[in-house]
Amino acid sequence: MLKLAVLASGSGSNLSALIDAEKNGIITDGTISLVVSNKKDAYALVRAKNAGIPALYIKRSEFSSDEEYDSHIVSRLKEYEIDVVLLAGYLRIITSPLLTEYENRILNIHPGLLPEFGGIGMYGLKVHESVINAGVSTSGCTIHLVTKDVDMGPVLAQKHVPVIDGDTPDDLAHRVLKEEHVLYPKTVQEFVSKIKK
Ligand code: GRF
Repeated sequence: MLKLAVLASGSGSNLSALIDAEKNGIITDGTISLVVSNKKDAYALVRAKNAGIPALYIKRSEFSSDEEYDSHIVSRLKEYEIDVVLLAGYLRIITSPLLTEYENRILNIHPGLLPEFGGIGMYGLKVHESVINAGVSTSGCTIHLVTKDVDMGPVLAQKHVPVIDGDTPDDLAHRVLKEEHVLYPKTVQEFVSKIKK
């Protein structure tokens, strides 16, 4: 059984979907063993505690650089013997100490169809606003491996979602998020089943 850590900065609805998937037997080869947030008030931390999962708030300003911050995160991940890291609404760019230690073992979910509508600054509603402004008829979500190039790592799975005339960014976000909650657990299981110890 692989130990999974979820890194989240916000509401953590994807974290909840992952927790539920473990309970419901969709994720069978991994167990969520730690949740880390860079935001003290992230609701993801509350969700973790409610599920009995260790939850750490790690404050960026206590470290002198992003690299030192990520080195500290690595040491905490090691303490909990984490095998795979899942980013779920984690609004920080991952730097080399974490990328090196967990090479090809960090997954991210993006609320758009990469390689379009990704990269630095493309997160949350900004993605959906750009999709609507571009006038495309399809959006979706992407699960990918995290590499040093933001949102450019190998794609593991995608799900397409229609963009409907008159959609607001919130409407589209809602439609995409529902699919994220299905796609992320399914993809995590596929991934961990291939590398399980
Ligand atoms: C999701 O749309 C995810 O794709 C993006 O950030 C959002 C996080 O939502 N990376 P939540 O915190 O899981 O509810």
